[in-house]
Amino acid sequence: MKGNTRTRTAIAGAVSAITILALAACGGGDTGAGGDSGSSGGSSGDTIRVGFSQLGAESGWRTANTESVKASLTKDAGFDLTFVDAQQKQENQIKALRDFVAQDVDVIAFSPVIETGWDEVLQEIKDSGIPVVLVDRTVDTTVDDPYVTWIGADFKQEGTTAGEWVKENAPDAKIFELQGTLGSGAQVDREAGFGEVVGDQIIGKASGNFTRAEGKTAVEAALQAYPDMTMIFTHNDDMGLGAIEAIEAAGKVPGKDIQIVSVDGVRDGLQALVDKKFNYVVECNPVFGDQLADLIKKVADGEDVPKETIVIDKAFDQTITQADVDARAY
Ligand code: AHR
Repeated sequence: MKGNTRTRTAIAGAVSAITILALAACGGGDTGAGGDSGSSGGSSGDTIRVGFSQLGAESGWRTANTESVKASLTKDAGFDLTFVDAQQKQENQIKALRDFVAQDVDVIAFSPVIETGWDEVLQEIKDSGIPVVLVDRTVDTTVDDPYVTWIGADFKQEGTTAGEWVKENAPDAKIFELQGTLGSGAQVDREAGFGEVVGDQIIGKASGNFTRAEGKTAVEAALQAYPDMTMIFTHNDDMGLGAIEAIEAAGKVPGKDIQIVSVDGVRDGLQALVDKKFNYVVECNPVFGDQLADLIKKVADGEDVPKETIVIDKAFDQTITQADVDARAY
């Protein structure tokens, strides 16, 4: 780590300008993955060349986010999009970002798989003069003013919301925390928010890397290591769905013997809530392609944009209905 003070996207901190986007859930607020209607074209009349480095395809959330981005950054909307999937590997993202610099795109957008390790490439981008739009996750870097604008959810608030439900509804629960990709903004901040509320109830933690398969493996091990656990707080639905498989294979009943509190609110996660296998889900809305397109267009045109755009999340308990789930756009 270099000597100067690190800068980090401070969602809860004081910022000069923050736009709050209320995206309605359960089918409202978006027109679906394929119908996330784009913007009306580059305001300069020129096509905007965008390099987008997506971190992977690890979850239902990520798939919905990718579909939303692609549906909005279309040729008809005035964009020439180069989309690269990094398969959850930082080195792949760094290579993609360098390729975008070499291609001299107009705007670079990326969703960083973890927070640290970007100093060198962010400095290279800055030296090239190409503006950066940060998407979804956050960075922790020594580079001054490393991006023009960021759009994503308040991960810490998501953890806090989950913790408050536990405090109210299961104050004696013995909790195993199923962490996302270690060092990612989503893991770091959800864990911090949750821990501040019910940290004294956590009896163990392990990472499932935001995937269903690794979530299942982590919970299989946790069932052995923490036989007295009565709850899992999972940092995303996919890992929680893997947890259900592990719990059922161990002869226990998810949602009863072991309660599950999750984050995301993808259709499969909400179906688990209707089926009473999940107990509570804090939403993290991935469908913000239209807003991203508007930001990119303004950045390309040199217009002022807010430093942060926070996508507002809702939360769901077991009162959610099958009709709500069926109407879900992702
Ligand atoms: O960064 C957002 C998180 O990444 C989502 O909660 C998770 O499902 C995804 O992998």
